[in-house]
Amino acid sequence: MIRRKLLFIWIIAFVSFFPVFGDEGMWIPMLIEKLNIQEMQEKGLKLSAEDIYSVNKASMKDAVMIFGGGCTAELISAEGLLLTNHHCGYRSIQKHSTVEHDYLTNGFWAMSHKEELPNPGLKVTFLKWMEDVTGKSLEGINSGMSEKEREERISENNQKIITEAVNNSHFSAHIEPFFAGNQYFLFVEEVFRDVRFVGAPPSSIGKFGGDTDNWMWPRHTGDFSLFRIYANKNNEPAEFSPDNVPYEPVKFFPISLKGIHPDDFTMVFGYPGSTYEYVPSYHIKMLTKEVYPKLIDIRDKKLELMNADMSADPKVRIQYSSKYASVSNSWKRWIGEINGLDKLDAIAKKQAFENGFMAWVASDPASQKKYGTLLPDYRNVYNDLGRYRLARDYINEVFFRNGAELVSFSSKFANLIDLVENEDSPEKVSSAASQLISLTEGFFKDYNLSTDKKLFVALMKKCGENMPAEFQPSVFINIHSKFNDDYGKYMESVYKKTSFFNEDFLLEILNNPVKSKLKKLKNDPVFQIFESADDLMKGKIYPEYSRLSLELKSLNRKYMAAQMEYQKDKIFYSDANFTLRLSYGSVKGYIPKDAVNFKYYTTLKGIIEKDNPQIYDYDVPDKLKELYKSGDFGQYAENGEMHVCFIATNHTTGGNSGSPVVNAEGQLVGVNFDRAWEGVMSDLMFNPDQCRNISLDIRYVLFLIDKFAGAGYLLDEMDLVE
Ligand code: ARG
Ligand code: ASP
Repeated sequence: MIRRKLLFIWIIAFVSFFPVFGDEGMWIPMLIEKLNIQEMQEKGLKLSAEDIYSVNKASMKDAVMIFGGGCTAELISAEGLLLTNHHCGYRSIQKHSTVEHDYLTNGFWAMSHKEELPNPGLKVTFLKWMEDVTGKSLEGINSGMSEKEREERISENNQKIITEAVNNSHFSAHIEPFFAGNQYFLFVEEVFRDVRFVGAPPSSIGKFGGDTDNWMWPRHTGDFSLFRIYANKNNEPAEFSPDNVPYEPVKFFPISLKGIHPDDFTMVFGYPGSTYEYVPSYHIKMLTKEVYPKLIDIRDKKLELMNADMSADPKVRIQYSSKYASVSNSWKRWIGEINGLDKLDAIAKKQAFENGFMAWVASDPASQKKYGTLLPDYRNVYNDLGRYRLARDYINEVFFRNGAELVSFSSKFANLIDLVENEDSPEKVSSAASQLISLTEGFFKDYNLSTDKKLFVALMKKCGENMPAEFQPSVFINIHSKFNDDYGKYMESVYKKTSFFNEDFLLEILNNPVKSKLKKLKNDPVFQIFESADDLMKGKIYPEYSRLSLELKSLNRKYMAAQMEYQKDKIFYSDANFTLRLSYGSVKGYIPKDAVNFKYYTTLKGIIEKDNPQIYDYDVPDKLKELYKSGDFGQYAENGEMHVCFIATNHTTGGNSGSPVVNAEGQLVGVNFDRAWEGVMSDLMFNPDQCRNISLDIRYVLFLIDKFAGAGYLLDEMDLVE
């Protein structure tokens, strides 16, 4: 008995004094003053919390923004010049590229403001201020409410808070849950829509290493691009106009020429998308054992098929390079996550934590009442959740996400078919049709029939073999019975009858969208495959998946609150939710495996070592080779070396791409763009030994602008600090 008591006390002591992990954490800017500033200053920071985030005076937050819909960017001049990643600007660069002006291949540099290119649809978003609105968001909420009632009430409350905050200004606002819905914060933002393309290196620099080096260290990718924000004469947001002028920010980042050195303090300020640090062991089990392996397997096939056709034909390479990159990116991360979590023994670690937690719960009747059934409830939900989540992801992979391409393409016609069938207003019909015209042209620019046929056969086969009958769309009944699972024969029969690969035919219909013609599309076998997949999703998978997700949401909220009670002395950070966060850490190499010790930086010499004109990802441009040979690195070199990338222990995730990496003085030293392979499981469990963010050394950026591109005039507007 006494022994058990001792053990229990030991467990309590252990968890309460559990240190905050090294450099783990993505912190809320508004709370840095309270939670972090002391530690940050001890680690070397020379700034105050107010210098980083302030509502009353210009601060770092005024120079950081959301770029487009999923990246971060930062201001680097008093004339609205912004810096982000090449892979973040990729779509804009691609849209401006034609055979005559292939900016992806050759790079682009506006030599004056006049040459900067507008990008309809591209926006940047600044945070004006944030506020903890938990009290008002949760007004009228009580524990007797169902999850749905609770959500409705919160959304009503939030609508009021938002209207009041925006107060007829040109700002916009939204409210996000934090700590799994235990807290709510308001974000008031200013959106600029005239954002022009200023410059980018060729892909052979900006995407150097391609998917081969993606998620890996050592890395040599010159992953940056430059844009400029334009405003109206009052320095306010405005739609594109030739009369607009460069935006004058209240704050932009000075750029350090001093470089970074081992153990230097660094911080990353940006928009991390999502993390899952407080989930139970069941979640990790579900992902690593049930979901990821099947998704990796199906993407193995996609990548194999695309790669074969891309290697055989340069035209297909261009058509499929963006699709390939997007399939490959998560595929590779999943593999890395499984490895990293296995190596950490993450499931066992979580289980040990859960055992300690349960013992703590059992020790107190009040906790027992509140949290006693939490883990068994979790187990029940995860018993079913994995199957539904896999089914949802699998159907998406096969039909909608770079899978059987014609099927997902045909899905885009569903709305128009509906409108015409229901004899909706001619305006609506013609607007839907004209949207589809540009979509159709875009689709066929990047479509290769024979690649698509191979994907169709292979992916349908995977679905027929790997999904249980209840999660196969109804067309499979026919495939099994009439075609005897001969997927090639099935494909032939579908592609013989379909019109969805006939661009001219489709454009003719779209230019004259009458009922009789759309009926043809509705009866098209490809459209019927889409409908059968859609029926399965909407009729069977989503309802159950949503029900389980809602249950999970309420358990997560409880478990989060419980963990905070259990580990009273730990300082918690909320999971990422694509709101502005600050991570801090230090410049550090790491030991990825036995006998290997990774240095913290790479150099131009390493690019030359990788050079291979035969391999697309490693084809170094001649100009860069010449610059290397001449050793003409100007003020950007350190001890004769041109540094390219570096790693540090900052906790980052998807969305942090393009984020400013800043030194102790608040000067820009790098641009964040990736994480190192051994640490990509940081979205689920952070390991300070192995988790590293990868940044582009800002001096390489300057070197490329100045010496490679000959666009040195851009440096004149920057604030370079020696
Ligand atoms: N892994 C990085 C991130 O998640 C870069 C992705 C873009 N590059 C690529 N080769 N797919 O965004
Ligand atoms: N490459 C990611 C991004 O684009 C960053 C990361 O996942 O580390 O946001």
